[in-house]
Amino acid sequence: MCGIFAYLNYRVSRTRKEIYETLVKGLQRLEYRGYDSAGIAVDGPNKTTTEINNNSICLIKKKGKVKALDEELYKKDSLELDTELYTHFGLAHTRWATHGEPSPVNSHPQRSDKDNEFVVIHNGIITNYKELKEYLITKGYEFESETDTEVIPKLIKYVYDNRENDSVTFSMLVERVIQQLEGAFALVFKSRHYPGEAVSTRRGSPLLIGVRSEHELPTEHIPVQYNSSHLKEGVQEKNSHNRTDCPNAINSVGDGRPVEYYFASDASAIIEHTNKVLYLEDNDIAAVRGGNLSIHRINRQAGEDPVRAIQTLQMELQQIMKGNFDAFMQKEIFEQPESVFNTMRGRICFDTNTVVLGGLKDHLKEIKRCRRLIVIGCGTSFHAAVATRQILEELTELPVMVELASDFLDRNTPVFRDDVCFFISQSGETADTLMALRYCKERGALTAGVTNTVGSSICRETDCGVHINAGPEIGVASTKAYTSQFVALIMFGLMMSEDRLSLQTRRLEIISSLKVLPELIRKVLSLDEKIKTIANELYQQRSLLVMGRGYNYATCLEGALKIKEITYMHSEGILAGELKHGPLALIDKHMPIIMVIMRDACYIKCQNALQQVSARSGRPIIICCQGDSDVTKNAYQTIELPQTVDCLQGVLSVIPLQLLSFHLAVLRGYDVDCPRNLAKSVTVE
Ligand code: G6P
Repeated sequence: MCGIFAYLNYRVSRTRKEIYETLVKGLQRLEYRGYDSAGIAVDGPNKTTTEINNNSICLIKKKGKVKALDEELYKKDSLELDTELYTHFGLAHTRWATHGEPSPVNSHPQRSDKDNEFVVIHNGIITNYKELKEYLITKGYEFESETDTEVIPKLIKYVYDNRENDSVTFSMLVERVIQQLEGAFALVFKSRHYPGEAVSTRRGSPLLIGVRSEHELPTEHIPVQYNSSHLKEGVQEKNSHNRTDCPNAINSVGDGRPVEYYFASDASAIIEHTNKVLYLEDNDIAAVRGGNLSIHRINRQAGEDPVRAIQTLQMELQQIMKGNFDAFMQKEIFEQPESVFNTMRGRICFDTNTVVLGGLKDHLKEIKRCRRLIVIGCGTSFHAAVATRQILEELTELPVMVELASDFLDRNTPVFRDDVCFFISQSGETADTLMALRYCKERGALTAGVTNTVGSSICRETDCGVHINAGPEIGVASTKAYTSQFVALIMFGLMMSEDRLSLQTRRLEIISSLKVLPELIRKVLSLDEKIKTIANELYQQRSLLVMGRGYNYATCLEGALKIKEITYMHSEGILAGELKHGPLALIDKHMPIIMVIMRDACYIKCQNALQQVSARSGRPIIICCQGDSDVTKNAYQTIELPQTVDCLQGVLSVIPLQLLSFHLAVLRGYDVDCPRNLAKSVTVE
């Protein structure tokens, strides 16, 4: 996930070298978020400036690690490292690619033009960037990157070039820009037209500002300034509204005295400089001008707090990186309402009930003509294929094979030109999956990737694909990538069935369930305490069986994988239909067993399995729908979940098992994020 860091020193003398060090250190603190390139923007040194004197902006961007960027900085001897800068504003960014592969030109800061009049760093996704880009191209703006972000600096330059007079402030320009943006963003802007000034804003992505001053901060609260005149015009019109810039607000922090400001995506990059921070809220525009920080927004909403509090952080650095969580895996489990939402963002239109996956749409006709779909992956990614196989068969009306990449290769599976092969991989680098991809390509099949890593080998080598946008996953045991892969594959099915009249009712049922899915995930996460209690009863066991069927069979496989990966207990995902063919022999009153029994087409069959388990004195922990007394009366323990449409129920039913494995591993004293013998990305066959 992209990381934002920016540093403004006002009347505090710092050498260029110190400024670079601060910017680079800020990025290093954000490295844990995952990234593939990095960049900074600083004021250009005097001797390289031409007609714009001291106001030139210099961009340094590099693919790869922050360390590579750092080395690059010191290679440029023109940067006058010893020069003292009394007031300066620098931007820094780590990019985790979503639009366009990792490369210097796609890295941030993105710029308005070759003279770097405006530069910006962005975390989030601009969903209407294509429309904005088309418009700006008609106005003569030239684009150089493949990013969605680039429309932002171009747009602010457009607004600046068309300003009504020179009294337009930097924050007014930003306000006009964000009114045109759809999607999610945290943004920090720098401009050679406004030297020593900073403007930042957010909608949907986090952003906070640290304040450091030798003087006591004048107030613990900053009044927010509201502007009642709302801009309704599109970017195509010159804006001439009568916004007042509320000069009174400008004395809230700073007072013209020496001060330093730190802007960052999270507190981990700020805490070593100051523990006084202010969290921006959606649609806040925070501007620093003359060393003073003020906050503006448009139109006060009912019930809105008109002040922003400066808070004192008490946390340790390590704690901040993981938020309030003990492990990255736990953090990632709890991120699922947002990660699943991000997978759908800008792709499902809930007003028109349409789904567009940009990376597949040009190949849709070809996919619809194919003879079969083959969905290939390893580990958790394979389970996402198992989880969605049935609904893909229903929505695409094609035969769907799901394959473990290693076995697929071992079998020299026949593949034909009229097959379409999907490769599911969080990392996009798993060796077996990559080999399977090459194998299918050689046989002339159309190949599509479903990955979480733009620019990865699988992304590059497939003909088309979907990026799941789940954000980087650090815990070795995959959690949020699974639910996002699940949702991405369902979206593919919905896209394939858009013109099938007979499937419309089904499609609408699924689309409306996807809309509320993040909310339902939140409800499941609220069962954490209960699941912890169950873990307390189970953690000394040696074995744990997980049983279910139909749409929830994949949940059993994935739940058992999580348990064995991080708790080192023996665990098996069992298809309930196979119970009588072997697993029943394992059942007695000592064998811990979890049964997933949801209200779907397999409900009665699952109840039969439950009877058979109970008749052998089994004491099942049952994951079922809320208030299902038919099932709960036979349970030793229950975990009751909200009900959703059958094909999405697996997104909800897997979460208790993710949480359970986490708590079991903690209770057994193991390192949750780095289980023994396992790697996040298996790049060897
Ligand atoms: C490893 C990881 C698993 C992951 C599997 C497939 O085994 O530990 O968490 O599911 O690889 O990885 P991929 O990146 O291809 O999804």
